Amino acid sequence: MPLVTSKELLQRAFEEHYAIGAFNANNMEQVQAIIEAAQEERAPVILQVSQGAIRYAGLEMAAGMVKIVASMVDIPVVLHLDHGTSFEQNIKCLRIGFTSLMFDGSKLPFEENVAITKKVCDIAHIVGIPVEAELGRVLKASDGVTPEEVKAAMTDPDQAAEFIRLTGADSLAVAIGSVHAMQAREASLDIDRLKAIRDKVGIPLVLHGSSGVKHESILEAIENGISKVNVATYLNQAFVRGLKEGIEKMPNEVDPRKFLAISREYVKEAVREKIRLFGSAGRIDSSGGFVSPRKTFTGVKLGGTEE
Ligand code: G3H
Ligand code: ZN
Repeated sequence: MPLVTSKELLQRAFEEHYAIGAFNANNMEQVQAIIEAAQEERAPVILQVSQGAIRYAGLEMAAGMVKIVASMVDIPVVLHLDHGTSFEQNIKCLRIGFTSLMFDGSKLPFEENVAITKKVCDIAHIVGIPVEAELGRVLKASDGVTPEEVKAAMTDPDQAAEFIRLTGADSLAVAIGSVHAMQAREASLDIDRLKAIRDKVGIPLVLHGSSGVKHESILEAIENGISKVNVATYLNQAFVRGLKEGIEKMPNEVDPRKFLAISREYVKEAVREKIRLFGSAGRIDSSGGFVSPRKTFTGVKLGGTEE
């Protein structure tokens, strides 16, 4: 089906306490693995294009692969810009057909972050495209961060409320203890801070750097306002594990597809695991629409008859 925007997906997830998996892809095999897993799990899904993917594959190629694979399935697929660096990049993505944007002004002073985020929102909203913003800062493991630095970079709930009031952003990436690109699941999230942010901003919240977060902490976060969970490193680990195993098993093989096919399967399984964890599996019915939880519940209560 054609791409959909992230607006309704995230709002529903927010209200029904599950999260949409937002998976990063850099090549054809990763795009296929993500969308095939979501299709098999009947889950709405977000494919996101990172700055690294743009440098590696080029913006048009990265977006084009998602559009093609999405057109072959009957679940809602969103094409999202991850950590957009500027107003100009966001507008370019809007023109190319992205159905969800992000401006990441987390490194900027508050006023500048507000000004650019608002400018992106004002234009994107005219054509019905939602925008994710970031306040506080999700740091990167490779920068050698300390626990004190992670704490100091966390999102302030009152400032977040003011930020959303001033910008009109549709969702907010929050810094609550996760760190980008961690290779082991060791981090726990500050759930009290998350609850305070949720109560003050009242819009879907986004967890970045989920690969390094303990699963029980992710579940608690989803229960308390996280409606989009970004996953990149965990999928890259699966991809590389496939390559290594393939080369080890078939040292004389020269057809790269033999190795890439293993990687694709491993990424697919990793995506499936996360989709189930986030509670987004089984949300889409056979006609491509949302399964209504209330309807299902009524059916069970009345002894199996559907309303
Ligand atoms: O924006 C992308 C993510 O925040 C992914 O983080 O690589 O730690 O899973 P991760
Ligand atoms: Zn991120």
